[in-house]
Formats: sequence, structure tokens, C-alpha cells
Amino acid sequence: MWSITKVFILQIICILLLGGIKSSHAAVRRYTFVLQNSSHTRLCTNKTMLTINGQFPGPTIYARKGDLVIVDVINRAGQNITIHWHGVKMSRYPWSDGPEFVTQCPISPGTRDFDTLWWHAHSEWSRASVYDALIILPERNQPYPFPKPHAEVPILLGEWWNSDVQEVMEEFLANRGDPNVFDDFLINGQPGDLYSCSRQDTFRLTVEFGRTYLIRMVNAVMNNIMFFRIANHNITIIGSDATYTKQFSSDYITISPGQTIDFLLEANQPPSHYYMDSRAYASTGNFDNTTTTRILQYSRNYTIPSSPPLPTFPEFNDTSASVNYTTRLRSLANKKYPIDVPLNFTDILFFTLSINVRPCPLNAPSSVNNVTMVLPRTDILQAYYRNISGVYENDFPDNPPFHLITRKDGTAVNILDYNATMELVFQGTNTVAGVDHPMHLHGYSFYVVGFGLGNFGRVRDPPQYNLVDPPLMETIAVPVNGWTSIRFQANNPGVWFMHCHFERHVSWGMGMVFIVRNGRGPTTRMLPPPPDMPRC
Ligand code: C2O
Ligand code: CU
Repeated sequence: MWSITKVFILQIICILLLGGIKSSHAAVRRYTFVLQNSSHTRLCTNKTMLTINGQFPGPTIYARKGDLVIVDVINRAGQNITIHWHGVKMSRYPWSDGPEFVTQCPISPGTRDFDTLWWHAHSEWSRASVYDALIILPERNQPYPFPKPHAEVPILLGEWWNSDVQEVMEEFLANRGDPNVFDDFLINGQPGDLYSCSRQDTFRLTVEFGRTYLIRMVNAVMNNIMFFRIANHNITIIGSDATYTKQFSSDYITISPGQTIDFLLEANQPPSHYYMDSRAYASTGNFDNTTTTRILQYSRNYTIPSSPPLPTFPEFNDTSASVNYTTRLRSLANKKYPIDVPLNFTDILFFTLSINVRPCPLNAPSSVNNVTMVLPRTDILQAYYRNISGVYENDFPDNPPFHLITRKDGTAVNILDYNATMELVFQGTNTVAGVDHPMHLHGYSFYVVGFGLGNFGRVRDPPQYNLVDPPLMETIAVPVNGWTSIRFQANNPGVWFMHCHFERHVSWGMGMVFIVRNGRGPTTRMLPPPPDMPRC
């Protein structure tokens, strides 16, 4: 019954963070992911939900730079699935990138199919429980650009829904209102002791005074940008989205869904217990204002406080706290880790991001340049590769329409020439209520060269761009009613999804697709598909 294997190949070889050298000691690491329903209890509620190998979250993938990772995905659950390797560039090989109906048909039930990255389901809302970290260690003799940490600890932010996520999504799409809110946030799959029934299972991170720990953090939350803090401790940020950054010290982090942040935690406070917690940053709208916790506990003897100190957070709607954190992200931009931000570019694209209102029936589709993305029935990659017409149109606009009210539905792609150097300006609009949008581009990293609040000034803002040490990211939050400019070179041929990483916005259609043409040489062309791609 379950006997056909679908093999996904991740070419970890071109991951950017850890230098550019191919290892001669590359290993093949093979993982088997069985998608299955399994039962889990949080907040005194037991439920059956989608998981990989019965684990929630998990499993974590470990590899070393240069390794080849092969994941066999076997679907034994009752619903379709695809998996996206978030942050892995899939050089010339979009076939295993994952977004349902963009680069593949879902794997249907009954068939089988450094740095800090992660993987998650990319089919409807199944990523609520199907995700974990994908950790790539540096090559054996490649040191980190900071003293070797005593230990490395992944921290995944997620959430728990007492109800069935598939039902919540269907209801949300039928009513087109805001989705039901979930029931709590999680750190590494556990809510923490501020929620009911959760005290015993609260995660504890034991540290030794005087040691330094490398924390690899992933925000796998569906619909919220998160703040994270540790009581009484400053941390040192050293990387984000699989790229080292200049080190800086901070007493909080802002992390968007999709992003990863690496930081050093120095255990330098009086030995005791301290809370580490996370809660939402939300500029507007409905959100869950609860806090998920984990306890940082020093080893050694001391009197355990009855209630450890809680960190104090920026306010929920503190946009400057969110933006200020992002402003501090800078590339290393040195000899060993140079940057190659495009200085001259072929094209400038200007994309507006909006939540629109259609009066009757009352619903709120999202759009990019006023096109609401509708997923086709055959995946776009297949249609492009095999020249199947009628699946998508080539006319995704480079600029918003003159009349911002003329929204339309479409499956439109924007075609880029191989190696074109692109500047893309995102502009958040506020036809309904403005909100931040964590925008994610598949297949690429991009330099974030500028951002600001309010409207982008075509004359005023570009001279202020940071072209010296802009951060290299895969997901960046466009601030509420503000703008963000990114640059990248279209050197990865294929079909690549770009979308808001808020699940409710992408379900409403806030996404679009780039097709990057093949180049001339044999190494600049897309590779052929594997023989066992799932069929629609
Ligand atoms: Cu983690 Cu299409 O994204
Ligand atoms: Cu959004």
C-alpha cells in the first residue's frame, strides 16, 4: 500500500552561510519522514494531529556543510502534503522546493513519496504541527567567527490549537473573517507554566555559570511576529536567516514567521532560575496576548526562587522596538565573509501589499499589486517545464495599477532573465488596516538595503540605502504601512514562490511567483525533474 518512495534531495552544498568551499568529505545523510496522525496533549486537551514520525515538533535534521541530505517523505495521513526546506536554495532544482501547486503537486495519502534553517509543511495549514529545525554545521575545520560555544540549543517558537487546524482553516476560508485564534504559543512544543496544565512539562535549559551557549531560534508560528527575551540576560546576536551578522548585544529579539536567529547566551548572572519567554508583536488586529515560557536554570547549589523573574517586554504594538531590532542586523562584510550586493540593476519592481475589502459578500482578500494569487490545479513549475498552457499568465505587473481599488484574482507570474539584478520595493498599504507583512522569497537570499515607515520616496529614499553591510535575509517583515527594499541577482533558474509568511495572508492570496529563465551555459539551466514527482 505505502510502498512507493518519493525522494527529495537537498543540495546543502550551496548554503551561503558557511563559506563557499565544497567539502571533499561530504556525507550522504538520509532521513525518513512518515506523515501520520498521532495524538498529543497540551493544556489538558488531547487531540490527534498531523505529525512527522509521530513527533511534535520534529524531527530535527542535522547535516554538515557540503553534505547531501535525502529525505524520503511517506504520506500515511488522510490529507495531502508537501514539505518546504525553508532557506535551502535548491540551486537549479526547484523540483523539491515544496509549495503546493507552485512547484509540485501534493503528495497524496497512500503514496510515498549553517546553519539554522528549518523545514515545514507547505500545503494549506498543515505547517501548524509539521515543522522542525534543519541545522547545518560548518565543515570540520571551519571555525565559527566567534569563540566556540559550550553547547548548541535549538529553540522553536510554535503554537497549539485545541481544535483541528484543517477545520479552522476551512471555516476561515468560508467566512473570510479573521481566523479563530489558536490556544497558546509554544517553545519547543511546550506551552510553559503560565498556561493551564503545563507546569510539569515546561522546558528547562540548564546552563553552567561562565559558559556560553549558541541558541538557534526558529519562528514557526503561523500568524505572529514574536518578541523573545530572557530575564536579566543580554544576548549577542551573531546570525540571521543562515548568514552571519555583525555581533550586537540586545535584551530582546524580534523574529518573524519564517526567520531564524542565532545568538550567544552567556551564563553570567547569579546562579538561579530565570524565565525566557516569547509573546506576540502585533501592530493591529486580533491576536493572542499570552506568553510562552521556558526556564533557564543554572546548575550548582542555590536557593531556588519560588517564582523566577520574568522579563519585561516591549509593548505588543511597539513598532519601533520591532523596527529598531531589524535596523541593527548588518552583514559581516569583511574579507572572509564578503557581500555582493548588486549596485547596478536591470530592473526595479514596486510591489504593494494590501488587505483589500470586497463589499459583497464581505470578505478580505489580500493582494500583491492588487492581484490576489489563486493556486492552479497543476503546479506552475510543471506547466512551465512542459509548456502546458492555461495554467498561469505571464503578466504579473511590475508596478501597482493606477487605481488601487481594481483588485483581481489571478495566477500570474513575473518572468526574470537569468542573472538579472533586481531591486524590489515592497510597500505596505492600508486600504483596510495596515499590518506588518513578513515577506519570504523561495530559491534566494536577498539583501535588505532599506526600509522605513510611511510611503517610499522614489527620490528621497534610495540615497539612504545601506549598500555597505546590508543583511542577507530570506524573510523580512515590511513594517506596518511602511516599505522595504531588497536586492538580489536572479542566478537560480526555476519557479520560485514569494509570499507573506503569515498563513492567513497567504491563504487570502498575498503571494506571487517569479520564473527565472535558464542561462546559456549548461550549469545555468534548471536540472530535469526526478522520475517520481507526485502527480496532481
Ligand atoms: Cu517558509 Cu513558502 O515558506
Ligand atoms: Cu501579510
